[in-house]
This record gives sequence, structure tokens and C-alpha cells, in this order.
Amino acid sequence: MKHIDSPGQLRTSYLDFFAARGHAVIPSASLVPDRDPSVLFTTAGMHPLVPYFLGAEHPAGTRLVDYQKCVRTNDIEEVGDPTHLTFFEMLGNWSLGDYFMLRHPKQPLVAIDTSKDPELVELHSPAFGERDITGIDNDLTRQHHGEPIGERITVSGRLLDRAGRPVRGQLIEIWQANSAGRYAHQREQHDAPLDPNFTGVGRTITDADGGYHFTTVQPGPYPWRNHLNAWRPAHIHFSMFGSAFTQRLVTQMYFPSDPLFPYDPIIQSVTDDAARQRLVATYDHSLSVPEFSMGYHWDIVLDGPDATWLEEGR
Ligand SMILES: [Fe+2]
Repeated sequence: MKHIDSPGQLRTSYLDFFAARGHAVIPSASLVPDRDPSVLFTTAGMHPLVPYFLGAEHPAGTRLVDYQKCVRTNDIEEVGDPTHLTFFEMLGNWSLGDYFMLRHPKQPLVAIDTSKDPELVELHSPAFGERDITGIDNDLTRQHHGEPIGERITVSGRLLDRAGRPVRGQLIEIWQANSAGRYAHQREQHDAPLDPNFTGVGRTITDADGGYHFTTVQPGPYPWRNHLNAWRPAHIHFSMFGSAFTQRLVTQMYFPSDPLFPYDPIIQSVTDDAARQRLVATYDHSLSVPEFSMGYHWDIVLDGPDATWLEEGR
């Protein structure tokens, strides 16, 4: 794949790709729409082309490509975080009734009825972001304007196959309670404070060595009403995807020497001592960041005799 290291190169590569396939390159329209009272600013790449989608003839033809200047309005509340700017450009390739689709799904999309259970959608799709992963998605302490409360920790390790080979380029998602032991989740019942600066979800892609890295805060233990005085040991939920979303594997990572281990039916359900130990991260002083965080190391083995215990498929 061609290496791109500037916005100009990205624009040029995109325009050239479609120009070579019969698309006319058209200039960006004005940020203030021309004779269009429906919006104050151009907010999307398709906006200036609406009249042509409705039937008007475009002077440049029926296949077009452009990069359109836009002002962010729909998700304006996200402006100010590290990945959302007020002004952006949208790359677009357009067919004014021209493309012909040889293959398409034979069945209509299946609607998910979330009226009774708003979380049903989580069983059908990745839940942690509709955009590509960015450099800060693995840092749960930088996802809001302020810093979350709690002890900062860094968790690193490798995703490995049964032979100890790195599993590269895989999506790892985590979710966890905040430092008070409360999830930012609508079904959470624990009466502990929410942290406005902590959502508790993160994502990353394993590197060439199968490595992953998260920065977060130490999750608190929480009660879960399974039995009298039932408390879950502090843990972070991990999800690993293989080459398809249907190959999702889910497990939990625990922290060393947690006094709640003997009382927790979930970790005790793993009856093999060694397998249970493999769910517990190791404190690694070399991973602690001076003046910043405590470091933990935890490798995930997908299969074989040393496999990490997984909640599904075993
Ligand atoms: Fe949990």
C-alpha cells in the first residue's frame, strides 16, 4: 500500500484513484451554501450535490470525485477532543445514477428492535465506536476533558497463538468499572459515583509483535448481588477479534493477590490452578511509568494447552 504522510497526499491519492476510473474531479463548493436556505453551512460532502441527486444535470458528468470543505455541526459537542475539529474536509466519490451494482445482498437489512432492550444491539455489532481506531483509543485517561479519578495503570502484553507466535493486527477491546467500582452503563445497579471523565472502554490493534498497550485507571471491586455480600475482584474485560467479528473471544484480566479471589464464583469456576493463574496480570516494575502509572503485564494465548481461559467457545 502506498505510504501517505500528509493531507495533501491523501487528497491527491484519492482524487487520482477515482479520476483514473472515469470520475471528473470537481472543486470544493463554498462553506456557505449558494442559494440554499436549508442550512447555514455546508456540513457534508454530498450537500452541494443534492440538486443533482434530485435530477438536475451536472456539467461535469455523472461520475464525480471531490474533497469538500465542511463545518462540523451534527456532532459539534465532540469538538475539542483530540480527533474532532470544527472544520474538516470530506472525501467523496459520487454517482449520479451511473454505477451499476452487479452484486448486492438478496435480503433486506435485519432491524434490531431495541425498544425493550436497548443493549440488544451490543450482541450484533462492535459497541465501542463507529470510527476507525485512533492513537488515543487505548488511553482511557484521555477520552474526556479532565482526568479520571483513581490510580493510573498501564497494561501491556502480547496476543499469541498456541505456538507462542504473535497474532498481529487484531482488534482488542476492553471495558471496565471506574475506580469506585461503577460501570458507566445503563444497567449498572451499584450505587457508587460515576466519574464524568471516565467511560471505561478502550480499543487497540495488536502490533507486528502481537503487542498491545492500554493506559487506564485501576478498576474498583464491585458488588453484584449474586449471593450475600458478593463482590467481584477488580478486573478488566477483554475482547479479542479474529479475522471476523463472529470470532470474538471474551475474557477477564485480574490483578495480583486480590483478597476476593476465594469468594468469587466466576474466577473459581476455572478449576485448573494454572489456568486460573493465567488470568492474573503480573506487576512489572519495568512497565511502571515514572511519576505516572503502575505497570502490569498480561499475555493472552488464544488456543493450545496454555490458552487463556475464555468465556465463550470453551
Ligand atoms: Fe465486570
